[in-house]
Amino acid sequence: MLLLLTLLASLALLAGMDWPGVLIGWLLLVLVVVGRRPVPVPAVEPEVIEEEPAFDPLPQVAATLGALDIPAFVLGSDATVLFQNKAGEKAFGALPAGSHLSARLRSPGILDMVRETIATDEPNQIEHSERLPSERVYTLRVAPIDLGQPPRRVAEGEAQKFYLLSFRDISELRRIDRMRSDFVANASHELRTPLASLRGFIETLQGPARSDPAAQERFLGIMFDQATRMSRLVDDLMSLSRLELKSHIAPDQTVDLRPLIGHVRDSLVPLADDLGVEIRTHLPEGKVEVLGDRDELVQVFENLIENACKYGQEGKVVDVYLKNGTAEPVEVSIVDQGPGIPAEHVPRLTERFYRVSVADSRSKKGTGLGLAIVKHILTRHRARLIVKSEVGKGSEFTVRF
Ligand SMILES: Nc1ncnc2c1ncn2[C@@H]1O[C@H](COP(=O)(O)OP(=O)(O)O)[C@@H](O)[C@H]1O
Ligand SMILES: [Mg+2]
Repeated sequence: MLLLLTLLASLALLAGMDWPGVLIGWLLLVLVVVGRRPVPVPAVEPEVIEEEPAFDPLPQVAATLGALDIPAFVLGSDATVLFQNKAGEKAFGALPAGSHLSARLRSPGILDMVRETIATDEPNQIEHSERLPSERVYTLRVAPIDLGQPPRRVAEGEAQKFYLLSFRDISELRRIDRMRSDFVANASHELRTPLASLRGFIETLQGPARSDPAAQERFLGIMFDQATRMSRLVDDLMSLSRLELKSHIAPDQTVDLRPLIGHVRDSLVPLADDLGVEIRTHLPEGKVEVLGDRDELVQVFENLIENACKYGQEGKVVDVYLKNGTAEPVEVSIVDQGPGIPAEHVPRLTERFYRVSVADSRSKKGTGLGLAIVKHILTRHRARLIVKSEVGKGSEFTVRF
């Protein structure tokens, strides 16, 4: 443009016009042209209006589900798996993209549920259990993903919809449920036995033994034992439930274990004498203090020393060691030289009502709740129970604070 103007000006000069006029005219025109320059020339809009690029929400949905810790699958409207999150891969193994859901989950119930949701657009849920790799129970839910905008177009021009299949693991809930109902069943069973025996004796006393003082005397003795057994059981059950209520509150008293163990030993000497067992305590000099609840710790050591006397009776001696190493945690070990406990029973001893031999425990006035109570108390004390036992040699129950 500038070149053109300069050319025009030169032509005008050549044509004989006076040069100041030409210069002024040229300058004016140059200014106008330069002034206009920054204004961009509007580009000519292309005639064809392009279709909006197809919106694909899958990457966002996938990224969100990737952060979720429960297994989740995104399905297409033909029940193929378009995405599987990490938790899903962990639980069910990685599926090649585009596989049909049935490649992994064969249960007809699940496939029917997914089909129904795809057909009706209504969410559905079902319960499903997997045996492998471990026994798990899930609540499966499938629901359409509402993206709130027109669905992505697929090649055939058909609308693509997504469905979310999620798995909630309810195995733990189930286990707790089962434990609770087992517990109620066990407790009722334990109470029913002495109760049935009491009723039997009452009937006998009212009938056949009405005028037999010797039999009456004997039966009343048994009835007394049965009633005592029932109250022991109720006491233990109440102890357990009280402990459960405060299991999350750590104890804050300072307890010296030296006099405490001496006191427990003294209280068990009559029982030990009856069984022909000697309780030997090995206590260090000075105080051995731990944070704890005195009454509860008495209950722990009573249970453990009583067990050692009752079940380790054959060994004749029970040793109680109190260890207070400077660098090591405080430990109390109760060692008997009885018959020991077969290894398969050891991990289950602290379960409620678990006994190596029910008859043996009953004949020794056991309820099967002693070690369950011990474990509860120790959990509250942030302490551990370590059981070592060798058949034929004896057992060692250690409380480590
Ligand atoms: N020192 C021990 N030696 C051998 N067996 C033991 C010993 N302590 C506990 N057991 C076994 O563990 C079971 C559970 O103990 P516990 O919970 O105290 O219940 P209980 O004494 O009421 O039967 C006992 O029945 C017994 O079979
Ligand atoms: Mg016991």
